[in-house]
Amino acid sequence: MFPIVEAEFLAPDVKRFVIEAPRVAKKRRAGQFLILRLHDHGERIPLTIADSDPERGTVTIIVQGVGKTTKLLNMLGAGDAILDLVGPLGSPSHVEPFGTVVVIGGGLGAAIAYPTAKAMKEAGNHVVSIVGARTKELVILEREIGAISDELLITTDDGSYARKGFVTGVLAELIESGRRLDLVLAIGPPRMMQAVAETTRPRGIKTVVSLNSLMVDGTGMCGGCRVLTNAGARFACVDGPEFDAHEVDFDMLVRRNRTYLQNESESLKRFLE
Ligand code: FES
Repeated sequence: MFPIVEAEFLAPDVKRFVIEAPRVAKKRRAGQFLILRLHDHGERIPLTIADSDPERGTVTIIVQGVGKTTKLLNMLGAGDAILDLVGPLGSPSHVEPFGTVVVIGGGLGAAIAYPTAKAMKEAGNHVVSIVGARTKELVILEREIGAISDELLITTDDGSYARKGFVTGVLAELIESGRRLDLVLAIGPPRMMQAVAETTRPRGIKTVVSLNSLMVDGTGMCGGCRVLTNAGARFACVDGPEFDAHEVDFDMLVRRNRTYLQNESESLKRFLE
């Protein structure tokens, strides 16, 4: 069992957990994820490791309660425990001194982008973070991302906080300003990442996305996380989760992510009844 030592809501349905998992904490690098299971018959869900403290032996995850398992997880608190947890999984982010790195996090993507933005800053990059959310109350980790960024730009779809609009609008302005951007990292809903890819493509700006495909084992054996890139089929769990945004077939990603939509909504409905 993996004890939960801290748990707090960051936004409605978005909860931050600090979990005791010393071996994972020791090995984990930015960009990697873990898979956990809440009970014997529970599904395995992949979650990016937002942070870790090797000395304390803890890892931090941020969970959005969208389906049955994530809602069940968000009902747990400090003192409860996770049945099993494996990790770190996936390839770490490629971090080096690129120059100016734009890190974009849309919605919960901000939590996934945070560890890589932090690692990019520690590697000596000038980090420009763009955080987007639908409304003010869904903006997460503003303080934490602000602390490791040279510039922080926030957008809300409805204009209830900071700038009204989408992350791609801010990115387009940065590009139009003529600033040299050496790398763009975008994490969020697939259509947002696709829009970022299409914004940077005409200028040939290297762009990386972290793909949230369906996963089961997380070790390259089930094929569930298959994504299509210019180089052919790849497994997000072992070849990724980060890929060159200009090479990803986002339409296929969206189609595959919808495969179990009906089962997922029936399961959630039964759970909520
Ligand atoms: Fe099974 Fe990637 S999750 S191959």
